[in-house]
Amino acid sequence: MKITEAEFTGSFPKVDLCPKPVMPEYAFIGRSNVGKSSLINMLTNRKGLAKISSTPGKTQLINYFLINKKWNLVDLPGYGFAKVSKDKRQEFEKMIRGFLTGRPCLMTVFILVDARIPPQKLDIDFINKTGASNIPLVLVFTKTDKLSARQISKSTQAVLDELAKTWEEMPRHFITSSVTRTGKDDILKYIEESNKVF
Ligand code: GTP
Ligand code: MG
Repeated sequence: MKITEAEFTGSFPKVDLCPKPVMPEYAFIGRSNVGKSSLINMLTNRKGLAKISSTPGKTQLINYFLINKKWNLVDLPGYGFAKVSKDKRQEFEKMIRGFLTGRPCLMTVFILVDARIPPQKLDIDFINKTGASNIPLVLVFTKTDKLSARQISKSTQAVLDELAKTWEEMPRHFITSSVTRTGKDDILKYIEESNKVF
């Protein structure tokens, strides 16, 4: 699939206010600094697209981008902020959960994981919880450009090993780099295939 049009359509504070669920949608989430904005810009070929949503105050919202007038890319706020109060964090978590469980048109949530660091409890917990709610998910390993093939396979395997403790079947995963554009075609192809079954 080629992305010919990508347009920011709005930011919403909660799931009930999101656009009518009439198109397939794909959500992207991960810890802050995992490379989410870079990945979204890489996938859509728009340098500043995801920055629209990262202006102060908007990062805590659910951001919609209409792609090729056919499907929605959803930029979710990062989970596990260290710098906000516990109350605020719980509020975010509730919003994210509400979104993930409340969208009948959500085809897949892409969970981003930094390939350069060992498995983080926060990520594993988030993946497990999402999987336990029967939300279709795939993993996206980010920032692989500075790693050797051996290091990439070691760090992806480390995460998969963690999941294997509780999962019967492994989620699909993509190896990506926003610098080298690795993984772009695979992810777009995956979305194209999923769109067909909407
Ligand atoms: P927040 O919105 O602040 O939570 O971060 P984010 O998850 O959107 O990450 P962002 O795309 O802003 O990237 C964070 C940092 O990682 C930036 O300094 C990027 O340049 C860097 N980065 C992102 N993707 C890659 C990548 O594929 N390779 C390398 N080497 N660096 C990357
Ligand atoms: Mg960002």
